[in-house]
Amino acid sequence: MLLKDVVLEDRMAKTLLIDKHRTFLSSYPEKCEELELVMSEHFKMSGMYWLFTARDVAKNLEETERKEVIDFVQSCYDPVTGGYRPALGHDPHVLYTLIALVVLVALIVLVALIVLVALIVLAALIVLVALVVMLVLVVLVVLVVLIFLVFLLVLEAPFVLVVPFVLVFPFVQVVPFVLAVGIVLVVPFVLAVVLALYDELGIVDVEGVVRFIQSLQMEDGSFQGDCWGEIDTRFTFCAAASLALLNRLNDIDREKAVDYVMACENWDGGFGVRVGSESHSGQIFCCLGALSILGELHRVKADLLGWWLCERQLPSGGLNGRPEKLPDVCYSWWVMSSLKMLGRLHWIDHAKMRRYILACQDDETGGIADRPGDVADPFHTLFGLAGLSLMAHCEEVMAEDDEAEVALHRAELVEVDPVFCMPRKVIERMGIQTETLF
Ligand code: FPP
Ligand code: ZN
Repeated sequence: MLLKDVVLEDRMAKTLLIDKHRTFLSSYPEKCEELELVMSEHFKMSGMYWLFTARDVAKNLEETERKEVIDFVQSCYDPVTGGYRPALGHDPHVLYTLIALVVLVALIVLVALIVLVALIVLAALIVLVALVVMLVLVVLVVLVVLIFLVFLLVLEAPFVLVVPFVLVFPFVQVVPFVLAVGIVLVVPFVLAVVLALYDELGIVDVEGVVRFIQSLQMEDGSFQGDCWGEIDTRFTFCAAASLALLNRLNDIDREKAVDYVMACENWDGGFGVRVGSESHSGQIFCCLGALSILGELHRVKADLLGWWLCERQLPSGGLNGRPEKLPDVCYSWWVMSSLKMLGRLHWIDHAKMRRYILACQDDETGGIADRPGDVADPFHTLFGLAGLSLMAHCEEVMAEDDEAEVALHRAELVEVDPVFCMPRKVIERMGIQTETLF
């Protein structure tokens, strides 16, 4: 039987070209504007998501034009339905609602981090000034006391003249001390309030978004993507992930949502688009993600599904999405994140997987393509980097032949959450709980 795969050649990249990817990602919007490419129309929102998340994963988000992006995302909000559109003039859709929330969360948490650093620097400066003032005052008081001792002993002045200075000594010390301690106690409180405000995603119309997502749930628990009625397990994931980001999961019928996803489980352990549809790695990611967010991941057949997922690895090391398909870098995310949720990421060959993703890098322009030699794009760059990050931060695989290369990936790429495809720290800071198997 002829196996569909690609051949990796020795001339292909073998190390992570992280600086080239950072340049590729940050210059992509201008390049698109010049070429009037994908950043226009309905790709604009997705394009922003791929670019910003990839830059977040590559530790390169701080140069971002935050205000412009927040304004664009908010301009896609439709207050009538409560959903976000892919671009002006299109219908609001649950996928773009999730993407809008993910972009806003990433940018807002970044702002919060900048505020946090600024406040810490300010607090340190104030404490430093208070300590210097305290020191100067101590020296001054000691000097004054000495002068008065001389006055008392040498010039034999009456003792009563010295007493006020001895009493003033501790008082003068106490003032800056109280100031310093006060600041140390007050600053974390102020920080907590500021961060809590940011975490509430202040600019999002939470009630509107919740109403929109509620309106998409069907009687059988499934979700349609928009008002036109297409049902897909992708939309269940988008609904659950959006509500988790807003801490409003209880506003849908959780039990029915889980029942619908479980009704899509196939004999091979996988999941498809709808009940009875063939297993597909992208849909498996969505179903496992939704179950993980809803706390019901333990209901899947983890060993059977883990086996099906690791059979997606081809001799080149790349992963395909279904049997008999070519390998594709985006499946390094859909498959590996699913394996991670199942606690079975170590079931595939990491060295070969890494070699495949690295071979898909464009060593001239930067960026990652679906297959070696194809044109790089932000979508495959995001999922290629996220896949490398998952492997670099996988505790089950300790001894690696290319340990130095893995250590570089660990240093250059943030740890990514397998459910949200966002930095794990952001998800932790928002207090979002997901279920992972072992
Ligand atoms: C394959 O698509 C991929 C999927 C079906 C997964 C889609 C996932 C989402 C919509 C959720 C994304 C959100 C986050 C936060 C990651 P394809 O149409 O390319 O499939 P094909 O390769 O079979 O053509
Ligand atoms: Zn792809």
